[in-house]
Amino acid sequence: MSKHAKIPRHVAVIMDGNGRWATRRHLPRVAGHSRGVDAVRAVIESAGRRGIEFLTLFAFSSENWRRPADEVSVLMRLFLSALQKEVGKLRDNGVRLRIVGDLSAFAPELRQHIAEAEAQTAGNDRLKLTVCASYGGRWDIVQAVRALLAADPSVAAHPEVIDEALLARHLALAFAPDVDLLIRTGGEQRISNFLLWQSAYAELYFTDLLWPDFDAGALDAALAWYATRERRFGRTSAQIAVSP
Ligand code: IPE
Ligand code: IPE
Ligand code: MG
Repeated sequence: MSKHAKIPRHVAVIMDGNGRWATRRHLPRVAGHSRGVDAVRAVIESAGRRGIEFLTLFAFSSENWRRPADEVSVLMRLFLSALQKEVGKLRDNGVRLRIVGDLSAFAPELRQHIAEAEAQTAGNDRLKLTVCASYGGRWDIVQAVRALLAADPSVAAHPEVIDEALLARHLALAFAPDVDLLIRTGGEQRISNFLLWQSAYAELYFTDLLWPDFDAGALDAALAWYATRERRFGRTSAQIAVSP
């Protein structure tokens, strides 16, 4: 067994707890979002060092549009400035950046910057970093159905040809394997409409740490816990012992 055999290929993170981090310090919630960006940088770096191939971060959900308009607009500005500040470093470090979600909800200027940032890192393949923004697992499944029908309208007359693999080809993360490890910070134990399809067999790791406090050591703790899990995918333990 290689020494990296127990490193998950695909780690997804629900980065929760920025608002509480700030409120506890009597700061405005946006201060927590801004410190959250620092935690994102640290986790990308350590994920790369640990040999994780795919890192998928939940930055803004379909439902987060329901937040007060001023918080939404600060989040959008932070997102834009982080893209502009960080993309050069990502490019130089072999990181391939993708932004997935219902981007039609974003301002044209932000969409333009997203396209440029993705293009700048398109030649990289060391760490595949995906930021889910304006993303929801249900949105993803609905858009996949629409895309499948648009790609091949004849499918509508023969729905029996649709299987899991065919639909999965149209999901927003079709380029990535299923999630192995799903981490949620901030103490809540729920999925909040993140990668519903892709996390079907993910190991779920919940920590009370608030996102701005999550660091390389916290990622290592999650990876150590993951390494102790037996992934059975429906089979029995005895079967796994014979052919892992
Ligand atoms: C996560 O932190 C960031 C986003 C959802 C954009 P929150 O803003 O949800 O922080 P809490 O959960 O209120 O502490
Ligand atoms: C989930 O956090 C979304 C992100 C981290 C981007 P929320 O704070 O929006 O989740 P709920 O609403 O508490 O479930
Ligand atoms: Mg929250």
